[in-house]
Amino acid sequence: MSQPATDRVRIFDTTLRDGEQAPGCSMTLREKLRVAGALRELKVDVIEAGFAAASPGDFEAVQAIASQIDGPIICSLARCHPGDIDRAAKALAPAARKRIHVFVATSEIHRKYKLELATEEIIRRAAESVRLARESCDDVEFSAEDASRTEPAYLAEVVSAVIEAGAGTVNIPDTVGYTVPAEFADLFAYLKAHVPNLGDTVLSVHCHDDLGMAVANSLAAVSAGARQIECTINGIGERAGNCSLEEVVMALRTRNEHFGLTTGVNTSRLYPTSRLVASITGMHVPRNKAVVGENAFAHEAGIHQHGMLKHASTYEIMRPDDVGISRSNLVLGKHSGRHAFRERTEDLGFSLGDEEINRAFDEFKRLADRKKEIFDADIEAIILNADGAAGPWTLDELHITAGTARAAEAEVVLSHSDGRRLEQSVTGDGPVEAAFLALEQATSVDLQLRNFEVRSVTIGEDAQGEVTVTVEYNGDSFRGNGISTDIVEAGARAYLDVINRVSRRRQRKAAEDDGEAAGEAASI
Ligand code: KIV
Ligand code: ZN
Repeated sequence: MSQPATDRVRIFDTTLRDGEQAPGCSMTLREKLRVAGALRELKVDVIEAGFAAASPGDFEAVQAIASQIDGPIICSLARCHPGDIDRAAKALAPAARKRIHVFVATSEIHRKYKLELATEEIIRRAAESVRLARESCDDVEFSAEDASRTEPAYLAEVVSAVIEAGAGTVNIPDTVGYTVPAEFADLFAYLKAHVPNLGDTVLSVHCHDDLGMAVANSLAAVSAGARQIECTINGIGERAGNCSLEEVVMALRTRNEHFGLTTGVNTSRLYPTSRLVASITGMHVPRNKAVVGENAFAHEAGIHQHGMLKHASTYEIMRPDDVGISRSNLVLGKHSGRHAFRERTEDLGFSLGDEEINRAFDEFKRLADRKKEIFDADIEAIILNADGAAGPWTLDELHITAGTARAAEAEVVLSHSDGRRLEQSVTGDGPVEAAFLALEQATSVDLQLRNFEVRSVTIGEDAQGEVTVTVEYNGDSFRGNGISTDIVEAGARAYLDVINRVSRRRQRKAAEDDGEAAGEAASI
């Protein structure tokens, strides 16, 4: 069988833009920087850091990533409006390598009902915006939103016009996850045949997963000539999500003899990055999820285990190591030292500074007092939940009395980074409610609980529980995580994590208001 020539496909990660746009997936600046750092290690080609004009928070995130993350191209989305393009250019100014990504919808449905614009006007705005973006950035991408439902002949005209205006990459999104692989491949073949000035412009693909075909459609597009795939970690994104980065990258790698295409992704970072994004967003990966799910490499059936023992290739098309799952039989416990602990964290793909290792090791020792065997998933959970230590509040003590015959009672002792120490006792319907009320009253933060989820970190009776809570505060949604072998304590830690996020937001807001007041006073 003849082998096709290997060609390079660029991986454009939009976890921080399209992924973050999904309900419940919003991230703080600090979390976005953590994810961007992981994406750099993963060696993606482009990081879409946000939509700078969407809000001051988005602008700040794009700017911070642009100034702190080197290596990949840093990109900001912008509508075809001069104001958006200006915000994107300003936020990206510190980046060593940058891209402005402008978009406008092109399908008849969007033209008629959303934009109320004629075809010629859309082409004019698209081309003008690309030209404007090129004035501040050499690397400009254009997206024809809802391209898969756009008339192919009109789409070819739009693509030709934006290339003429200076776009180096043209993205063909399946915005509503409507297309199917053969049809989408035909669309790319059509564009290749009908856009006379395509030259070396990179055609890009961006698929949503409404019908569960985002990865298949992206693969069909690259088979038909696209050379950039837009995707997100764990496939997070609007509605059913986007094309999953780990799946599309591993499909190209595992079936290289079929596709003849490579990426620059360091696949051994896929699993740690997936865990980081799941932990930060609270969007847990199903156990049977391809490539990074807990069961992706577990062989349960006797006949499979027998085959695996004879030769792994009988039932395994990828090795766990290829995606960075380094499951070992090594179990740590009470007597394991700092050195063994550090080595294990490194094997698991974390590179922690001394301060982080010390904090995680203290947590590990506390856990080892309660739990005989500490598994890899426990260590991951300790490290991924370390942000809870960012304060200002720390839970020093939690006492719960609960039973079927009387109301539950919770007593919390908290300390604040400013030196205060507070105690609060409260009764509630159950132990979790009592603990949450005690925390709210002690900190004077009033929250509306919207969701409470518990997940077992490992198996076994002494397994740790990981609680994720989602709350509403002043119309905004916040999420917090907590882990413990006791799920009431895990819940209290998750709730305090949220209270800390709210408190940090209040502190930041107060500092900004002070700054503005000082600025106004100076200018009077
Ligand atoms: O789905 C979509 O069409 C998008 C564009 C803005 C690229 O996210
Ligand atoms: Zn999208």
